[in-house]
Formats: sequence, structure tokens, C-alpha cells
Amino acid sequence: MDKILVHGGAPLKGSVRISGSKNSALPILAATLLTREPCVIQRVPDLSDIHYMLTILSELGAEVERASGTVQIKAEKVLTDAPYDIVRKMRASVCILGPLLGREKEATVSLPGGCVIGDRPIDLHLRGFEALGAAVRVQAGNVKVLAPELRGTTINMRGKFGSTVLGTDNIMMAAVLAEGTTVIDGAAEEPEVVDLANFLIKMGAKIEGAGTRRIIIEGVKELHGAEHTVIPDRIEAGTFLVAGAIAGEEVTLQKVNAAHLTSITEPLQKAGYHITTAADRLTIRPNGSRKPLELETEPFPGFPTDMQAQMCALLATGEGISVITEHVFPQRFMHLAELKRMGADIELEGATAIIKGVPQLSGAPVMASDLRASAALVLAGLQADGTTEINRVYHIDRGYESIDDKLNQIGANIERVKA
Ligand code: EPZ
Repeated sequence: MDKILVHGGAPLKGSVRISGSKNSALPILAATLLTREPCVIQRVPDLSDIHYMLTILSELGAEVERASGTVQIKAEKVLTDAPYDIVRKMRASVCILGPLLGREKEATVSLPGGCVIGDRPIDLHLRGFEALGAAVRVQAGNVKVLAPELRGTTINMRGKFGSTVLGTDNIMMAAVLAEGTTVIDGAAEEPEVVDLANFLIKMGAKIEGAGTRRIIIEGVKELHGAEHTVIPDRIEAGTFLVAGAIAGEEVTLQKVNAAHLTSITEPLQKAGYHITTAADRLTIRPNGSRKPLELETEPFPGFPTDMQAQMCALLATGEGISVITEHVFPQRFMHLAELKRMGADIELEGATAIIKGVPQLSGAPVMASDLRASAALVLAGLQADGTTEINRVYHIDRGYESIDDKLNQIGANIERVKA
């Protein structure tokens, strides 16, 4: 397994281009199953999670062609039983259930394994499918959904942790071909849900209210092919903003959508970092102070759980005492033990991290555990004294397109060691 060596202390300066959003591309690629006609998706990031999704689609019978960031997919005929060995590797593969149910009225997918950010249930997805008239059976580690016909209805998709992003996506993709009107109450409002809805509308779907808590879908007979460019990855952008905060002189992000980033830029500005916006560019500069923050992760438009680990790394080297509470995935703190190995002073009380800033972290061998925790360790390594060796770097490659190359382009000193 490859590892990454981050030699700390190099000041970051320059511009970096943000890739297309992983969490938007994944459901949009799944949505191409809803039509027999060809679809063209642009600005698809080159990530292992995307590779898994494209492999699943081709194993289901779709013709898949990829040329750099553009993917062409034609699902003229599809099987309805997804291959276990790939599905088990990626929780997001659950979002092929909705389009397969919508188009073929049946689908079988292996239950997503739990992963290191805690239990990953899909009860809300299944509740939504049943409300649309599907029978749901869980057997031998697979979930099978079957519906002689899908009828529009009103569904509340909120769970005890709030809204569900892929759950909202799944129900939307099943409902677009259902009989009649479906109202999704308690829908996720993430920009990635809006991006999926915009793609479905281009395919001929009738959807209103995406981006709000109430989405209304008028079922249609069939959908046609479409072209779509995926929105910028707001979590990659947030991660590079934190890189600019933790070790930057002046870092500019290109090709971002600033409107998707306010829940990240506002806390950074409150902590004392200077952020300016111009068209699709954002620039961050330190301003001398690194004030402590109190943050709580929430569904969009709140502070994103996918930025919690990265902010822990930043606040670990800030002034004073910061507090971050994780409401979405309460166990999502695998990064704390590794940050403490680098000298961070962080205590966990339930789902709340109490972070006492230290002047400098020290490089150490650390273990990547999940996608965003790994990114946090890279960020910590940028500021640390000495070298941080990050093992199991495949976690990072799942969600960041060449993060080491992009950081080295703006002055970092990172080596990737092929195992
Ligand atoms: C999406 O996962 C993202 N993944 C996650 O990003 C992100 O952390 C998450 O949304 C929250 O924003 C993709 O889009 C591919 P949820 P998703 O359903 O949809 C509970 C990353 O790092 N829940 O919104 O699977 C769940 O346990 C990844 O890029 C139920 O209880 O997450 C969690 O506590 C990690 N029952 C909360 O809801 C359900 O049926 C939010 O989960 C579904 C979810």
C-alpha cells in the first residue's frame, strides 16, 4: 500500500483548481440507468470511488466510456443484481437501488458494510421505497426491492440524525418514473441533491423544490438521455481552504462555487482568516490570529460533517480552546488518536471534541482510517515540525484527485512512496 510523506513547514502560495464533486458525480452516474439513451457527464473526478461506480454500471450491462473528465454511459439493457464484491467496497453504491427500481421495478444490492465513521443504516431509503409501493426483503446480506408498480405518495425522509442525502437521491430517482405525484418531506438540501435534480430534469423529469426540505416530483412515462457538468467539489474546496489557513501565505482556489462554501468560509473568517471571492475563485490569507471556534456539524446549510476532521486539524494548532460537536456521525473521530500522536491536545466527551490549541504539531507515522480523517492528517502534516508518514493512503485517493500533486503545486513538500 502506498504511503505519503508530508515534510512540514513549507509555506503554501499559489492557485489550485478544484475538481468536480465526488458526492454529486456518484448519484448522477447512477441516474444514467434511468434511460436507454446515451448520457454524457462532464467534470467527473478521477477517484477510486468513481471507478467503483463505473465498474458497477458496466457489470450491470451499461456501455461505459471515459476520456479524462468526461464519461459517456448508455444503459440500453440492465441487469438488476449488483455485484457484491464491488458494492461492499463503497457505501454510495446503495444509490443504484432507486434508478433500478424506477426503471426495472426491481433491484438487489448487498447491504452497505458499516465503515469507520460509524453505522451506516439505510432504513430511511427502504421506508421510502415501501411508501412508493415496493416490497423490501433483506436476505443473506442483500437487500432486494421489488414493485409491480410505483405509485406517488408523500414521504417523510427525516431520521434521528436529520435528513439523508443518498436517501433523498434514491427516492427522487425511483419517483421520477412512478405513477402520480411524490412529495418528499424532510428532504436533504445539499447542493449535490440539487445537482442530481437538475440532471434528472434535463432527462425529462418533473421536479420542483430541490434544495429545500420539500421536493415535489410528478412521475413521467420515460426519461431521455442528457448531458451534464458536475458542480465543483465543495469538500475538496473546504479542505484546500483549511490547507491555506494552516500553512498558507496566500492560496487561491479556482473553479469553485462560493455559494456552496459559506458554512465553511464564515467560521474561517471568524477565526481570523482573510477570505476574498472573485467570480469562481476564492483566496485565503492568514491574518495573524487563529481564534478558537465552537462548531456543530449539521446537514446543509449547516457546517458539514465532511469538514469536521479537517477543522480539528486546524483548531489543534489554533489559539485557546475550541469545541466541535458531531451531530451527523457521532462516532466520526478516528482522526483524533492520530492527531494526538502528533502532539494535539484534544479530549473527546461523547460526540464533542474539546481542542486545546498548541503552537506546533510534530511529524509522526500515522494511520489513515477514512477519507476525511486522512485529509486531516495531511493538513496537520503541512504545519508539523518534521515528517508525517501517512499509511493506507488509498483512503485519500477515494475522494481527492491527486491531493499530493495539487498541494506540491502550491509549495508543499509531499512525497508519495509506492509500496
Ligand atoms: C452522504 O452520505 C455523503 N456521501 C457523505 O460523505 C456525507 O458525510 C453524508 O452524506 C452527510 O452529509 C455521498 O454523498 C456519497 P446520510 P449518506 O444518509 O447519504 C443517518 C464523504 O466523506 N441515516 O446523509 O450516506 C446516517 O447514519 C462521505 O464524502 C439513517 O439513520 O449520509 C447519518 O447519521 C462520508 N438512516 C445521517 O443519517 C438512513 O437510511 C446522515 O447520513 C440513512 C442515513
